[in-house]
Amino acid sequence: MTSTFNTTKPQSPRRKLFIKTYGCQMNVYDSGRMADVLAPHGFETTDTPTDADMVILNTCHIREKASEKVFSELGRLKPLKEARNSNGHDMTIAVAGCVAQAEGAEITARAPFVDIVLGPQTYHRLPELVARADRKSGAVVDTEFPAEPKFDFLPAPRAEGPAAFVSVQEGCDKFCTFCVVPYTRGAEYSRPTADVLREARGLVAGGVREITLLGQNVNAYHGQGPGSAAWGLGRLIRALAEIDGLVRIRYTTSHPRDMDEELITAHRDVPQLMPFLHLPVQSGSDRILAEMNRGHTRDDYRRTIERLRANRADLALSSDFIVGFPGESERDFRDTMDLIAETTFAQAFSFKYSKRPGTPGAALKNQVPEDVKSERLTELQRVLLQQQTDFNAACMGRVMDVLLTGPGRHAGQMASRSPYLQPVHVNAPRSMVGQIVAARITSLESNSLGADLADAQAA
Ligand code: SAH
Ligand code: SF4
Ligand code: F3S
Repeated sequence: MTSTFNTTKPQSPRRKLFIKTYGCQMNVYDSGRMADVLAPHGFETTDTPTDADMVILNTCHIREKASEKVFSELGRLKPLKEARNSNGHDMTIAVAGCVAQAEGAEITARAPFVDIVLGPQTYHRLPELVARADRKSGAVVDTEFPAEPKFDFLPAPRAEGPAAFVSVQEGCDKFCTFCVVPYTRGAEYSRPTADVLREARGLVAGGVREITLLGQNVNAYHGQGPGSAAWGLGRLIRALAEIDGLVRIRYTTSHPRDMDEELITAHRDVPQLMPFLHLPVQSGSDRILAEMNRGHTRDDYRRTIERLRANRADLALSSDFIVGFPGESERDFRDTMDLIAETTFAQAFSFKYSKRPGTPGAALKNQVPEDVKSERLTELQRVLLQQQTDFNAACMGRVMDVLLTGPGRHAGQMASRSPYLQPVHVNAPRSMVGQIVAARITSLESNSLGADLADAQAA
């Protein structure tokens, strides 16, 4: 397979690129990679679509409203493109990501002014697709799952600030009955350990202090190690911890089924591994967990949490919940509420079940009425919000190490992250960006904490 991105053709005027990202952190990472792959071809990113020569919508298909948002955004882009055309300019519109993968044909039918439709596995071909779109009218569509892994063809990412993502795993073989990801992202793939370590070392050399390892099922990671044996995520984290200057490591999103011993004990052995874990459970009812094809019971989840907390006592947890999966009874919902009450989460995401075309859940007859879903979601979110508020309140007066990531909301403030991934606004000068400092928590806001430097002399 040949690739065109490294055959740098002379490009006339520099072109402006606007990327809008929806959905998960994998998409955030991918948007960065798309900008990197287009940069040698004269594309510079801009933060408004108005004067852009190219607009990429990097889309998410996880819930119904997600794809409707894309069509409304396309509706807003159409007059912008027409205005540019009437001024003798062009605007290439590309739809990437999971909606592109799942609904490529619908996009070209409903929005014929779209020039390129590309799935998440073909980003390395973007320069070639742009060149093809320049030559022809009508949409260029590439939603293949190519044999060549795109990572082999993407340039190494540059460090932008002290925190970075590194994608280590993609796709999913688990087929939960509510979820589109196995269809949009394809089969599970793990990057070889040498590639991941090289990317991480490059980022750290560029000033990165914190790396979040990404994957739709990040702890199913089984990348080819230096010999023939595959490494699991726990082993990879231990190797990353050897990199001088890398002070914080996180990973997301994990599946409860893949929390193996080596990963659980990494929470004890690796001080760089932050004490915060997003471990989606979706439901607390064994019956619903089985219907969802999650492959674990409520007790399995409890035991995993116990083992994690035995290895790292201050581990804070986050989760995803779905209410109103087809057939969910009041009793099933109570099981979920009980699990929440006994586990306690520092943070959580929760959703009403939404039918995704092509998934087994969408075909089930016993769909839960919308008003029941809404009631359950309100009740569940009230409890989760209370747990989050309690967790934050318990941080008042504490001194925590925070990583200063950039300017804060007000002058004299810096944005930072606590070990538990809480956003913390610290009174500190901008010159301290990239440092890890001890901060004393002095105030609570709805979604963040306020702090002062604990050691004022550090300033
Ligand atoms: N791989 C992760 C989740 C990826 S999708 C895991 O296994 O947990 C992110 C979250 O979106 C899911 O955890 C789930 O809570 C939610 N979600 C996915 N499909 C959904 C659907 N059809 N309706 C409502 N929420 C959904
Ligand atoms: Fe979706 Fe389940 Fe795979 Fe997570 S594990 S991406 S929820 S199919
Ligand atoms: Fe959405 Fe695709 Fe991520 S459906 S959540 S963008 S994997």
